[in-house]
Parts: sequence; structure tokens; C-alpha cells
Amino acid sequence: MPNPIPRHVAIIMDGNGRWARKQGLLRVQGHEAGVRRVEEIVRAAQEKGIRYLTLYAFSKENWRRPKEEVEFLMGLLSAYLDKKIDALIKHNCVFNVIGEIGDLAETLQKKIAEVMEVSRKNTGLVVTFALSYSSRREIVRACQKIAEQTLRGALQPSEITEETLSKNLYTADMPDPELLIRTSGEMRISNFLLWQISYAELYVTQKFWPEFTRDEFEKALEDYKGRERRFGDTCPVRGSNR
Ligand code: FPP
Repeated sequence: MPNPIPRHVAIIMDGNGRWARKQGLLRVQGHEAGVRRVEEIVRAAQEKGIRYLTLYAFSKENWRRPKEEVEFLMGLLSAYLDKKIDALIKHNCVFNVIGEIGDLAETLQKKIAEVMEVSRKNTGLVVTFALSYSSRREIVRACQKIAEQTLRGALQPSEITEETLSKNLYTADMPDPELLIRTSGEMRISNFLLWQISYAELYVTQKFWPEFTRDEFEKALEDYKGRERRFGDTCPVRGSNR
């Protein structure tokens, strides 16, 4: 039996810069093209009945990029929110953010909080943008929260389980991704959802993010359908999103 459609798909959107160079364009034009793909893939995910889509939009390490590029990316995000808020609501999407949001400009933080609030009660696709995100930091932060609970006496060290850690991550309310997609060919995880992707199927495509159309997304979903998911067991557990 083929695997059902994944509940949660996570994507490392890579290659905007290389795509732009290949076209003789500026890097920032690559990011603009990247936003168009975000719009297309959000729509496709919704139509496919995926419940959670998590997009790596800006890592903690990305702050090291030239100031102009960082500002451009932040501006794109802000414009995306202005432009998309009505559509997100209309399509019943929940807008969500993970990462160290306190690092962002206050105006952007406010805008994010507003869009999160107005979409909070929606029941459709949960679109999560990872911003100023570092998975290692997320895990350290979870450990600190757990340590505080044990110090308060609310939790015994022996009661700490995998679930305790999961419940103290930014992604506490989401199932783990069953599928992780990375564009532009690099075979690495780049500090993204390290805990959550323990059993995810990986799909790496050579396509740059601006080339990752709905058809490419469907290819990834088709590939996932046929994967044997064993979860450390000897026999495949197909047809399962366990
Ligand atoms: C990787 O390309 C992409 C990013 C660092 C940012 C991803 C951002 C977008 C897709 C646009 C922003 C989206 C929204 C909704 C605001 P790269 O610059 O690392 O490419 P390269 O590795 O070829 O240089």
C-alpha cells in the first residue's frame, strides 16, 4: 500500500542566489522569484490536503549575509505578509513562525504577531516560516525550559522522556515531518528541525528553489508515496504516517 499524503512537509528552500546568477540576474531577484514559488507551493500543499508546511526562510546563520541582502529578505517577508494576509485567511490557513523572533525588527515582529492572531482559529493548512531559526538553539532552549520545570519540582529528572523534549520545542503542537525536501542539490540538513526529522524521508532535488514548481513538488510527493518506511524495524511500515 502506498504511503498516504504526508501530514507534515518541511522544505529547505535553497538556491535562489545560484539560480539568479545562472540567469544573469541579481541575487535579490532570485529571492523575489523564490517568493513566487512559496506562493505556488503553499497553494499546492493546501490543495493536496497536507496539514503542515514548514519553510526554512531565514536561519540564525543567515544574519551573516551582507546587510543589504538581509534587509531585502526582511522587506520581502513584510511585503509577503501584507499581500497574502487576505488570501491566507480566505483559504483558512494558519500562519505560524518558529525561531528567535526577538531578533527581527519590532515592526516585523508586530506584523507577524497580527497575522498569527487573525489566522489562529483557522482550521486548514498550517504554514510555518522558520525565521532566525537554529535547531540546536531550539533544543538548548527546550532543555532550559525542562531544567526550570525540574528546579521548580514540577518534573522529576526520571520523568523526562522524548515526548517532554518534543513538547518544549517550537513545534510542540505539530506532528513531526514525514517528508523533508531540499532544493538545489546540497546533501545537508543545515541546522533545520534536527530532532523533528529523525524518521523523515529525505528528498533532495537538483532544482534551484525558483525552479521548484508545483510539478516538482508533486514529483517529491509521488516519490514519498513509494518509500519503504521502516522506523528501525525490519519490515516496511507502508501506508503509514506513524
Ligand atoms: C536560499 O537561497 C534561500 C534563502 C536564504 C531564503 C529563502 C527565502 C525565500 C524563498 C524568499 C523569502 C520568502 C518569503 C515568503 C519572504 P540562497 O540565497 O542561499 O541561494 P544560494 O545558495 O544559491 O546562494
